[in-house]
Amino acid sequence: MASLKTVLYLGVCLSAWVITSAEENIPKADNVRWVSVDFKTVLHWTIEPSNYTYTVYYAGKEDNWRQTFNCIQMSATECDLSNDVKMNNTYNVKIQTVPANEYDDYGDDLAEYPDSYSPPFNPFRETNISAVKFTVAAVDENRVNVTITDPLSGIHEGEKQLSLRDILKSELKYKISYYKFGSTRKRDFISNSSTAEVSQLDSGQSYCFMVAAFIPTRPKISQHGAWSAQWCTPGDESSLGAWVGAVVILLTVLVIIVLVTVLCCKCCRQKNLSQSSTPV
Ligand SMILES: *[C@@H]1O[C@H](CO)[C@@H](O)[C@H](O)[C@H]1NC(C)=O
Repeated sequence: MASLKTVLYLGVCLSAWVITSAEENIPKADNVRWVSVDFKTVLHWTIEPSNYTYTVYYAGKEDNWRQTFNCIQMSATECDLSNDVKMNNTYNVKIQTVPANEYDDYGDDLAEYPDSYSPPFNPFRETNISAVKFTVAAVDENRVNVTITDPLSGIHEGEKQLSLRDILKSELKYKISYYKFGSTRKRDFISNSSTAEVSQLDSGQSYCFMVAAFIPTRPKISQHGAWSAQWCTPGDESSLGAWVGAVVILLTVLVIIVLVTVLCCKCCRQKNLSQSSTPV
């Protein structure tokens, strides 16, 4: 009886050991993180080299887990979820380890393989917004028109690549920051649309403009997109500069013409001389 007990006990220990050690040996995805710019949303993770593959599941709040077509039993370590996580919702992702030779119709037995979870992510609140492109055109001496190109997003609807305006609609505003050239005082102007008129500028002065997407409905920390490069309008001073530049260029061209003419003449004369001195 005692020996039976020992055998049983040993058996239990052994199976417990087999189960735990098997679990320890199955690798998990690590460092699961989101990288998202303009609603192009890619999940990244790291893995140890092994014979296992990874399947990605995503779910919005209170949704069921769903697979995404491109990220099933993969050995790559990133998954583009742009077209899956695109609503104003908080998404979670789990990455499940799957043996490389497992067939698609796996069921409950997969429950024994480990999952890794992503931090929650809401693209509407967290996708980074890149710098925008814009132009500035004078309307009159004191006003300019700023025309901004709405950036394209990573989300497609059928054939169409949506712009940030298509997705964020009236939540998307732009902050236009400008200053008089040589002055440190910056002024901000918030525009609801992609074109804006900035007025009350001093005539004859150069002004510099910068633009960033601005989403006031977001948490403070992620309200601003990246700032664009500066665009400066010419003032009177720089038109004087342009005039001086033109004169310098003209003078240079003139000097070159004169030099070339002189050199050519010299050449011709020498050629003539050498021809006439050749004995016939
Ligand atoms: C957004 O940009 C910041 C700064 O570069 C970065 O730390 C953060 O991870 C980015 N967020 C996403 C979701 O890509």
